[in-house]
Amino acid sequence: MARLGDIARRAYGSWLGAEDPGQPSSLPAPVDQGTLEGMRRDWNLRARDNARHYVQSERTEWPDRDFFRSGEINVAELVMTDMPRVCGATKSPLDLSMVEIGCGVGRMTRMLARIFAEVTALDVSDEMVARARANTADLPNVTVLLGDGATLRPLASNSNDFVFSFIVFQHIPTLAVIGSYCREAHRVLRPGGLFKFQVQGLTSFRRGRRDTWTGYPVTRSQARMLARTAGFVIERSEGPGTQFYWLWFRKPLDGAAE
Ligand SMILES: C[S@@+](CC[C@H](N)C(=O)[O-])C[C@H]1O[C@@H](n2cnc3c(N)ncnc32)[C@H](O)[C@@H]1O
Repeated sequence: MARLGDIARRAYGSWLGAEDPGQPSSLPAPVDQGTLEGMRRDWNLRARDNARHYVQSERTEWPDRDFFRSGEINVAELVMTDMPRVCGATKSPLDLSMVEIGCGVGRMTRMLARIFAEVTALDVSDEMVARARANTADLPNVTVLLGDGATLRPLASNSNDFVFSFIVFQHIPTLAVIGSYCREAHRVLRPGGLFKFQVQGLTSFRRGRRDTWTGYPVTRSQARMLARTAGFVIERSEGPGTQFYWLWFRKPLDGAAE
């Protein structure tokens, strides 16, 4: 039986690098409209069906308190433990602006807003965005935006200190969309800023080309390519080959990587 990696390599053969078979040497060209529409359509359906379950699928029914507690715990574990990297030696989180890509219904956003000065939370699904807006309406430092699914428009360049994403890229169906977000994260970060995100590292899943649940698996060499193409330096990585492949991409102080 053909392995997923082999199928993907054949499908994307036109942009594979010659000296490193199986790994793209540059990003595939533009994100196609069908992929963007598919992500929005599927996540709107999921939100209407049972938004909290599709955001955090450990449970089918989530009482309010437990649901938002799960977000607080994730922020404690995944963001608060990393504050020295986010702040460096000189900055207070209370002065920093951050972007959350794929905020869902605002499960983590509420807690992020207690740590950072400004939080811009963005999602491809207008159904999720409507719920996130309602769930953060009492928080003046949160702005929830409907994104196009691949960029951080309308955010200004060099306007944020930290970009974060959890259990979102693991659902994104193409490397082109992931690459676009990496370039966009680099654009909106100030020099020295950090993009911490988690991707699907498991290559053994069977998936369809536009599957918006089982996302495109990212290998180590693709991660290196994503960083390099966007202008980042990989500061740290954890869990390659697993569902929780974490990447810490740093925007160099001079704005450009080697
Ligand atoms: C599993 S939920 C996680 C939500 C949130 N990160 C959390 O942990 O509570 C995934 C979210 O990512 C959003 N999403 C999926 N693809 C996206 C894309 N290309 N751009 C922005 N958001 C996306 C979905 O609409 C959904 O709200």
